[in-house]
Amino acid sequence: MNGRVAAASGQEEGRPSRQINVVLRQQEPPVSPAAAVGDGRSLNSGGVSPKSHAHGGLFQELSRELDALVGLDNIKELVFEIYALLQVAQMRSEAGLASGSQAYHMVFKGNPGTGKTTVARIVAKLFQRMGVLNKGHLIEVERADLVGEYIGHTAQKTRDLVKKALGGILFIDEAYSLARGGDKDFGKEAIDTLVKSMEDHRSQFILILAGYSDEIDYFLMSNPGLPSRFPIQVEFPDYTIDQLVQIAELMAKERDYILMPQAILKLKQHVLLEKSESLHAFSNARYVRNAIEKAVRAQAVRLLTHYESSSPGKQELMTLRTEDFKL
Ligand SMILES: Nc1ncnc2c1ncn2[C@@H]1O[C@H](COP(=O)(O)OP(=O)(O)OP(=O)(O)O)[C@@H](O)[C@H]1O
Ligand SMILES: [Mg+2]
Repeated sequence: MNGRVAAASGQEEGRPSRQINVVLRQQEPPVSPAAAVGDGRSLNSGGVSPKSHAHGGLFQELSRELDALVGLDNIKELVFEIYALLQVAQMRSEAGLASGSQAYHMVFKGNPGTGKTTVARIVAKLFQRMGVLNKGHLIEVERADLVGEYIGHTAQKTRDLVKKALGGILFIDEAYSLARGGDKDFGKEAIDTLVKSMEDHRSQFILILAGYSDEIDYFLMSNPGLPSRFPIQVEFPDYTIDQLVQIAELMAKERDYILMPQAILKLKQHVLLEKSESLHAFSNARYVRNAIEKAVRAQAVRLLTHYESSSPGKQELMTLRTEDFKL
């Protein structure tokens, strides 16, 4: 298995095919020492202390990274629901009431570049901070990582990955491809092993399946045990043009660049055209990110050519102009 360790900066994306991403981060203690899966305890056996709620702002602090993302209101609401559930579960257990466990396995449905991987990484971190996961790492895999070459190989590969994911999230991108080959395919063995692992390691890891909506629906139908095991289904809609522009500005800001108003207009018109007329699948925020990165390169060439014997000022170093967007 050719594992690869990626930095947890959140910059990483568009994982090269056939590599496993283990997103590591400095271990942050859960907000409350109670809770955390991976130690055999139930997922929502504790977590965020209700007292901290009274102090206010805790959730905002926890979800800052999620809030920074443009749109995605449904996922922001879902995370708050889970936070509220953990708070109330803690209060109920302190009041001597039953606080049953919940399953948090999820399905992320959406087109390319709609933020599925980004959100999965943030959710892994958030759940660790809220005490739902005790490690909060994300293991990102695809079909080739799960499916083996001979009978028995697939089950072993899949079980090994589940083991690695304990205390964190196992994220399966393009999950539908496991069901693609039908009953005789080893993909089916991977699905069966996953379903069993979800029982054997109940509450010890969270499984997130990602893919296009219709393909995911087809996938869920491939095994009668699947749909009910994924109680949380999240749609990642295509971004609107305004949201894509906002994302572009955000990405530029994160890199210490500013877009001139005319440059924003040019980008907006181009994205509009690309989204409506492109023959291949439009890649949403990733498309915008590539456009910004291309403009950054063009600006570097422009500055170097223009300032042969002097240095550009700070403002000039930060500014992306219309001519930098060679779209
Ligand atoms: N709502 C958002 N706000 C800001 N940036 C975003 C948002 N959604 C996505 N991005 C950025 O767009 C890029 C692509 O996102 P991501 O890789 O999460 O998409 P994806 O849905 O996993 O795509 P794919 O289906 O192709 O794997 C990343 O750089 C990510 O940070
Ligand atoms: Mg992805």
